[in-house]
Amino acid sequence: MRFGVLGTGTVGRTVAGKLAELGHEVRIGSRTAGEDTVEFADAAAFGEVVVNATSGQHSVEALRSAGAESLGGKVLIDIANPLDFSQGMPPVLAFCNDDSLAERIQSEFPDLRVVKTLNTVNADVMVDPSLVGEETDMFVAGDDEGAKGEVTDLLRDFGWKRILDLGDVTGARGMEMYLPLWLRLWQASGTGHLNVKVVSAG
Ligand SMILES: NC(=O)c1ccc[n+]([C@@H]2O[C@H](COP(=O)([O-])OP(=O)(O)OC[C@H]3O[C@@H](n4cnc5c(N)ncnc54)[C@H](OP(=O)(O)O)[C@@H]3O)[C@@H](O)[C@H]2O)c1
Repeated sequence: MRFGVLGTGTVGRTVAGKLAELGHEVRIGSRTAGEDTVEFADAAAFGEVVVNATSGQHSVEALRSAGAESLGGKVLIDIANPLDFSQGMPPVLAFCNDDSLAERIQSEFPDLRVVKTLNTVNADVMVDPSLVGEETDMFVAGDDEGAKGEVTDLLRDFGWKRILDLGDVTGARGMEMYLPLWLRLWQASGTGHLNVKVVSAG
């Protein structure tokens, strides 16, 4: 398949690398085209599926420059977290609780089929879940069941075996609000190669 990966940071490049390794065609989008990147709009137009791996506070802006026409009714895999680093470390969530980045994207681009996933682990773990040493959970949330199904298949190709569907796009609230806890878990465990495993009686 063809993927447009918006974002030139660690996440964009790591996910793009994995997609290419799996045999997909990938274009990486940036504000300005470079040696191995194209502009956001070109990456979005190229992809049958689009990945949002931009700085969360600027994701809506980045998607606006990608353009509603290029995005159309495609599946958008939203990995971004709306972190605000303006007051230094640790970052705070720019908005949360009764709102989320995934919802803001979905409401700005109603035709897009937004699926929130992968934002709860670091970039290495996204594409190699075995790094944490045992099977752990990856979450998905979004309004479109078909889109979640497609993304779940892709997550399986990335190596995820335990995939929990948290329901409609508002499920992204908890996934994004997990970030402050993730930061403390990172400090406490001394490695970013960590994740949670949900154990339940059901
Ligand atoms: N790092 C991780 O392990 C990790 C894990 C989970 C989730 N996340 C989330 O994944 C996303 C990507 O993280 P990252 O660390 O790879 O990179 P990042 O530094 O958070 O984001 C880099 C991307 O954001 C774009 N960007 C920055 N400011 C912008 C603006 N004003 N307007 C439009 N685009 C702008 C940059 O565009 P240019 O290419 O033009 O510079 C670049 O493509 C973030 O939302 C982050 O919270 C990261």
